[in-house]
Parts: sequence; C-alpha cells; structure tokens
Amino acid sequence: MGRLSCNRRSGLQTMLAHLGDDAARFCGSVIPPIFQNSLFTYPSYEALEEAFTDEKEHYIYTRGLNPTVEVAEKKIAALEGGEMAKCFASGMAAISAAVFACVEKGSHIICVDSVYPVAYRWLSTYLPRFGVETTFVTGDSLREFEDAIRPNTRLIYLESPSSLVFKVQDIAAVAGLARQHGIRTMIDNTWATPVFQKPLSMGVDIVVHSASKYLSGQSSLVAGVLVGSAEIVRGISNREQAMLGGILGPFEAWLLTAGLRTLAVRMERHQSNAMKVARFLECHGKVKSVAYPGLPSSPYHELARRQMSGFSGVFSFTLDTGKEGVKRFVNALKYFGIGISWGGFESLVYPLAVAASSGVPDATRRQQPDYESTIRVTVGLEDVEDLIEDLDAALRTV
Ligand SMILES: Cc1ncc(COP(=O)(O)O)c(C=O)c1O
Repeated sequence: MGRLSCNRRSGLQTMLAHLGDDAARFCGSVIPPIFQNSLFTYPSYEALEEAFTDEKEHYIYTRGLNPTVEVAEKKIAALEGGEMAKCFASGMAAISAAVFACVEKGSHIICVDSVYPVAYRWLSTYLPRFGVETTFVTGDSLREFEDAIRPNTRLIYLESPSSLVFKVQDIAAVAGLARQHGIRTMIDNTWATPVFQKPLSMGVDIVVHSASKYLSGQSSLVAGVLVGSAEIVRGISNREQAMLGGILGPFEAWLLTAGLRTLAVRMERHQSNAMKVARFLECHGKVKSVAYPGLPSSPYHELARRQMSGFSGVFSFTLDTGKEGVKRFVNALKYFGIGISWGGFESLVYPLAVAASSGVPDATRRQQPDYESTIRVTVGLEDVEDLIEDLDAALRTV
C-alpha cells in the first residue's frame, strides 16, 4: 500500500477518494490504470493450478475478477458497510442476479409495487414462467408484509425511497420480520445512495444499485452493483454472475470509480438544490402537490428522517392542470433536459404521462392517480437560482 492508502475506518470522502486505489501496486499512479484485458497468464503449470485451487481469488479471466473493476467494488463495499460488492453490466443485471440467487422453482417473493418498473415487469410477467410468483404490497405497513408471507417465501424486495412515486418503507422493521421467518431481504438503494442510507446496518441482506445513476454521476455509463456479506456476494459472483455473465467491463468500471470519487460532495449539492427547488414548487400557486420525502409535508418524512441521514435530488410534483399544461410547461424549460434516467450532474424532467404510455405498470398508475399532471424532476448540480428561474418562467406558460 502506498502513502495514500486508507481503510474502512477512514471518513466517507477519504474512502471515496483513496480506498482500493493501491497506488504502490500501480507504479504510484494517482488513478489506477484500466486493465483492458480478458485474461491473465501464469508463469507455470503449477502457478495456474494454484490460482484455480487457492481459497483466495486470483486474476484469471475478466468475467471472474479484474483489477480495475475491483477498485470500484472495494469502494462501494466499504461505502455500504458490506463485506463484498460485485459490479454488473447494468442495474437490471445486478437485480436479476440477486433475485435468481434467492429463489428456485416454486418460490414466492414479496415486493413493493412502487419498485422500478422494469423490475416489476420482470417479476410479474417473466419469473412466473419458471414457477416463481410475486405478491406486490404497497409497503406502507409491516402488517401487509406479514400477511403476504407464505411457507415458500424466499425474498422480500424493497425500494426505499422508490424512484417514481417516492414511497418509503420501514427498512429495519421489514428486515427484522424477514429474519424471524428465515427470508432474505434485498433493497434497491439507488435513490438514497450509501451517503444517505445504509440498509445493511438495518439488517438487510443484499443492497442493489443502478450505478448508472448517482454512484457514477456523469450520465456516461450503464452499470449495476450488489453488496452484502462475503458469503452471499461470493455465491452470486460464482454462480449467477459467472453463469449468466452480466459483468461490468473494465472501461465502464474505471469511469464508475472516477464518478465515485466525488459522490459525497455531489450528493450534498443535489440535496441542497433539491430542497430549494422543492420548497419553491410547494409554494407555487400552479403546483398542486410535491412528493419529496425531504419535505416535512411528505407523509414519509418522519420515517425517512429516522432511517436516512439526507435526501437526494429526485422527486415529483403535480401541476394544477391537465396533460396539455404539462406539455407547455416541459417544452418551455431551458435548463432541464427532457429524459428518462437520473442521478447525473444535469437537471431533467420526465412527465409521468409519457412513463405510463411506455409501460409503467398499472400499479404505479393506480398509486399516482394524477399521473397525467405529474412530472418527475431530477435536480442537478447547476446554480439553483437558474433552475428556479427556469421553472418559474415555464410555470407562467401553464
Ligand atoms: C431505482 C432503479 N433501479 C434500477 C434501475 C435499473 O438500472 P439500469 O438502468 O442500470 O439497468 C433503474 C433504472 O432507471 C432505477 O431507476
């Protein structure tokens, strides 16, 4: 380890900056290089044989382990307080590997109905082909989870806060209930990031992320990651990841690490910008409601404050108008891009009417009855005065 080495007891930003970089190993390079190679060769028969049989993981083939990908994995594992992390080609690759690891033919899953829509579709329309059934719950009470448990329930899957309707679940209570019944829990922590929420410390078994969002933060890549105990993550790495093959390439991992270095400072800025924008919208005469767990007016605020140390920059608001008003508003914006993803440096809007027309599950439509008048907003890192001025001008066109 070089002078810049740091460990898991270091502060969050110090870990983000230096943990896993191991400069001494890479010629003192301040940024670890990209190992853009598929395989690693060995000096002898015996050395290759040892790499295959040793307890310790060795670099053999990039589908299993790659030094560049490993840097991102070490940082994310430390951030989440997990023993091990594994990067995947996308958030969906991480989610599907984690779910597959928990179920077999005949298993039952309990999942919140506000889960990311593609995951909802996968659970509700694809997994039944393999005899795996899912019960969707609103996630608003522990009783609902309790009532949904069956003898064959193997997994409870949370997303808190959820990323389209911003609902919050009581993570420690659900994890405790699951543990009593020998059921694994998994949570999508993409919205909060480990900067603001650490689900493993609340008893959750597996944390998953779309690293395409805040973890990378540059809107430059698609990636996923899962974190947990070494036993669980190594099992997924050796089975689901090795066999289904959805690994992250070294170049994307290198970009992800570059993004991770600034995660904590970006999240502080996302939080402060979002709070100002949410307060502005909440007081505006043309805005009917704002769904942001960071606002005291949110029904989830108290619970969110108990289990989170801060709030990120994505929320939704409902205009006091129909679809035509939403169109005029969105088209009048200057600084907000119109687009589907989130978590990058840039501000965006996403009208839920478009989401509904492109396959948002019925459950989300039911939960958001005003969806035609609702817009998801991603508050980026720009000067907040510019963003508020832009929103104000666009609201005047409604
Ligand atoms: C909350 C959440 N989880 C998971 C995903 C899926 O991640 P990816 O697009 O990286 O596959 C997304 C993508 O938008 C998301 O918003």
